[in-house]
This record gives sequence, structure tokens and C-alpha cells, in this order.
Amino acid sequence: MKIKAINGFKDILPEEAVRWRFMEEKARDIFGRFGAREIRLPILEKTELFARSIGEATDIVEKEMYTFADKGITMRPEGTASLLRAFIEHGLHVQQPVQRLYTIGPMFRHERPQKGRLRQFHQMDVEVIGAPEPAVDAELMAMGRMLLDELGISASLEINSLGCPDCRPGFRSRLIGFLENRRHRLCQDCRRRIDTNPLRVLDCKKPDCRAQVQEAPSILDALCDPCRDHFAAVCRGLEALGVDHGVNRFMVRGLDYYTRTTFEFITGDLGAQAAIGAGGRYDGLIEQLGGPALPGIGFAMGMERLALLMEQQETPLPRPATDLFVAALGEKAAAYAFPLVHELRRLGLSAAMDHSGRSLKAQMKQAGRTRANYTLIIGDNELEQQEAILRDMATRKQESVALQTDAAEQAHLLALRVRQNVIVHP
Ligand code: HAM
Repeated sequence: MKIKAINGFKDILPEEAVRWRFMEEKARDIFGRFGAREIRLPILEKTELFARSIGEATDIVEKEMYTFADKGITMRPEGTASLLRAFIEHGLHVQQPVQRLYTIGPMFRHERPQKGRLRQFHQMDVEVIGAPEPAVDAELMAMGRMLLDELGISASLEINSLGCPDCRPGFRSRLIGFLENRRHRLCQDCRRRIDTNPLRVLDCKKPDCRAQVQEAPSILDALCDPCRDHFAAVCRGLEALGVDHGVNRFMVRGLDYYTRTTFEFITGDLGAQAAIGAGGRYDGLIEQLGGPALPGIGFAMGMERLALLMEQQETPLPRPATDLFVAALGEKAAAYAFPLVHELRRLGLSAAMDHSGRSLKAQMKQAGRTRANYTLIIGDNELEQQEAILRDMATRKQESVALQTDAAEQAHLLALRVRQNVIVHP
């Protein structure tokens, strides 16, 4: 019996890994342009961290966490809580009033697996801590948009405001009143949510619930003056940066820590899994976790979803090439090529050879498969005459090169020759 991976846990095979590397390198580059620094965090945290931040009444904490109950620890279902825990624990705010941090890695949620939804998935998460200004909200969304653009992904940006502890309770009561009158027409989950987390009803994907909430009061009409001003300034900021967006008053997000701005990058190309990245402001959260009273905002991109879209939208990827393939024909030639290839690699080139004594034709095919820029052809006869053929694989031009007895010296000469003219295949 073969042992297979666990349902919802996926291998990323070499060809796919090229896409992942590209995506990750792009993200690091762009996050860096915006001044964010990397932070690496553990996967296991105390369960209480997530209960206190994401919220006891959320789907994530109620039913999706991988928890070792006897040890009181949980595999992180998202990055924000862990990042803030580390931020507080190490007093990072003392170094710098505004911190921009990012982290990339696996997250775990026991959801029903389907296309674009896994139990182990990966996020690229950015957080800006210490900046209350609406310009930062706009800047962060513009950064998300830049990343998607540079990955060749088209998506729309939806934004909303969830208000603050001053204006949200009033809205919550009005919403409960509205929902109570329609309780019998809502799904089981939403009936329960009226009492535990009524805003989540607005975001239910079931068509019957959606129809019921069409007439629901809008949070945007219930915002207090400071929250309304903040939201208007975020919209102006997005316009100033040329970031297209739409307002979605039904967006409430599945985590309880948000205040004011929330946003999602949405696609129609992944079936039910429409959100490829999402985030928002969490101005009271750091204090609630025992840290200083600092505001914060961030978002996370879902890497599996980005990878699927890059594949669908045929984002061009850099394809690795081999600088030099050494085709050795005969035992003596192979013995000569063996340390030569090693020396080439030591000099920083990618070099390859065949170890199984294949024919010239087979080795040339292999050179093609490894996308070699050059092939050095050495036969036992050529070796005796201290000569080999260097073939430029793109132009098919061949030239004769003198062979040195010393592999290191030979590698040096070849590196100079090959690097001068490295042709990077498109
Ligand atoms: P979230 O909306 O739960 O937010 O997740 C962010 C993104 O992670 C989603 O838009 C989606 O692309 C991806 N994602 C979530 N669950 C799965 C899954 N089961 N399979 C595949 N991809 C998934 C957060 O996690 C917040 N921490 C974002 C944030 C950062 N807010 C402020 N800062």
C-alpha cells in the first residue's frame, strides 16, 4: 500500500515550485520597495493567542484550528496574531515608531478542501504597525495591487469600513433587529450567528441569506464622524495612487479583530474561492494582546490561489538554464569531465554532464533538455590531441578549444569564455 499525503495537504512539485519561487521573490522585492522587513515566526503558538485575537465566535477558532488540546497549543491558522505576539514580546516599537514587517509561510485550517482551499496553505503577510493615517491604508492596498500586477494577475479590489468601538455597537443592535425579523428565512448557521456574530450574516454565501440581507442597514451609513472621514480619505488615497476599487458594504471578514478599513482582492476565476488576498485595520488589537496602544493594518495573500491564477493567466516565468553541458564520449573523456564540471560549479556556473556513457546524440538531447547555453564535446581522441569542441546551442556555431590538463585551469578559461557570451534563453 502506497502512503499518500493527507487530504488538504499538498506537495509542490518542481515545475510548480518555479512559479512559487517567482511569486515569493517578487513579493520580497515589492515589500522591500515599501520598506517592509522580514520576520520569521514559529508555526505553533499558545491557543489563547488565536482565541483572543481572531475571536472565540469565528469559524476559524470555533471549528477550524489544529489544536493539541492537552498541550494548549495550536498550529497557526493565520500570520497576524503570531506577528503581533512577536512584535509585543520583543518590544519592536521601541526601535522605530512605525514598523513594516512581512512574513511568508504555511498556515493551517481544518476547512473542507477544494480548488484553491487547502488545510495547509501559504500566506504572504504584511503588517504596518504604529501608523493610524488613512494614507497608509491606501499605500498598503496599492502595494497589493502592484504585486498582483507584477505577477500578471488581474483581480478587483473591494473595500469597506467596519467602524470602531464607538460606532459599531449601535450598528450591531440595528442589524440584530433587522435580522431577528427574518430569522426563520436564514440558514442554520446564520440563525446562530445573529446571537454570536451578527455581522457575519451579511457575508453568508448562501443565496437565500444573500437575498434576505439585501435590504439590511449599511454599516457605512452608521459610521461615526472620525470613521467616516477616515474611509473617505482612504478612497481619496486610492484614487491618488490610481488604484481602482469598489465599495462592498457586505464585506465583514472572518476574523474579529478588524476596525475601520477592510479589503479583499477578488477574482472570478477560482470558483467559490474568490478572495486571493485580504486584510484590514486592527487598531485595538495590539493593546488587547497586552502590547502598547498602537494601531495596525495589514493583509495576506493566499499563495495557492496566486499560483493557480498565474497558471491560468499564463504568467511568463524565468526558466532556469544550464551554462555549460559537458558531453564526454568515452571513459577517459568522462574521467576528464568529472572534476571539470565540479570546478565549473565551484566558479558559480551551472554545469552538467552525463554519467551513464550515452551516445553523442543522446547527450546532445540531454543538453537541450537542461537548456544548456553551451555544450563542450570531448571525445577520447580529442582528449589525446588536447582539443575539444565548444558548441553555442542557440546559434549552433562550433569552435575548437584547447584543453588544459588541470581541471581548475580549464574551468577558469571556460567560465571566462562562456560568461562573456551567456545567452539567456527566453
Ligand atoms: P484571511 O482572509 O483569513 O485573512 O486570509 C487571507 C488569504 O489567505 C485569503 O484571501 C486566501 O487567499 C488565503 N486563504 C485563507 N484560507 C485559505 C485556505 N484554506 N486555503 C487556501 N488559501 C486560503 C487573514 O488570514 C488575515 N490574517 C489577513 C490580515 C493580515 N489581516 C490583517 N493583516
